[in-house]
Amino acid sequence: MKFFIDTAKVEDIKKANDMGVISGVTTNPSLIAKEGRDFKEVITEITSIVDGPISGEVKATTTDAEGMIAEGREIAKIHKNMVVKIPMTIEGLKAVKVLTSEGIKTNVTLIFSATQALLAAKAGASYVSPFLGRLDDISTPGIDLIRTIAEIFKIHGLKAEIISASVRNPIHVIDCALAGANIATVPYSVIAQMTKHPLTQQGIEKFQADYKAVFGE
Ligand code: E4P
Repeated sequence: MKFFIDTAKVEDIKKANDMGVISGVTTNPSLIAKEGRDFKEVITEITSIVDGPISGEVKATTTDAEGMIAEGREIAKIHKNMVVKIPMTIEGLKAVKVLTSEGIKTNVTLIFSATQALLAAKAGASYVSPFLGRLDDISTPGIDLIRTIAEIFKIHGLKAEIISASVRNPIHVIDCALAGANIATVPYSVIAQMTKHPLTQQGIEKFQADYKAVFGE
């Protein structure tokens, strides 16, 4: 399973990239809005940091296929690594079909059911993004959806990669890996949590104390 970082905050993207653990980046309209920066400016900066798929979403206010196709073409022009993120709607699927026929990669987002994932894959999406945490938030086990999609894609040899999205904690990450997700897109805070273990910290402190006791600082 690969890791993408789910943020538009360039400082966090740089930190995760320097750790060598991320292969791509996902953004969404809320994450871009949180940074308060121009979409093209921030996305261009991200493409200069990470050499891997960068998902940039069409405007949240664009709901028709024609509009999404036009924006998708512009997003794809920003950099060769760009992936156009499209919401899971009928209009969105139409846009995915056209953009795919033009060789533009797409990531169908806001997936909450296996039928949605199947349709997105059939329309030609390179990636499908089921939202794990938001399902958990409404007392529906999100991981069951990831597992089901992974099983269906395997049975039918569907090529779309599954990006587990809305990942909120390290347990989610392990669950996604076991469920067969190709990618987990995670905020920097979760990557940082994943590095930690109390025994690691205790071990570091003991090694330092033992070393200093004999050799000094
Ligand atoms: C996915 O691509 C989305 O950007 C993201 O994972 C949503 O996460 P959230 O539910 O924590 O907002």
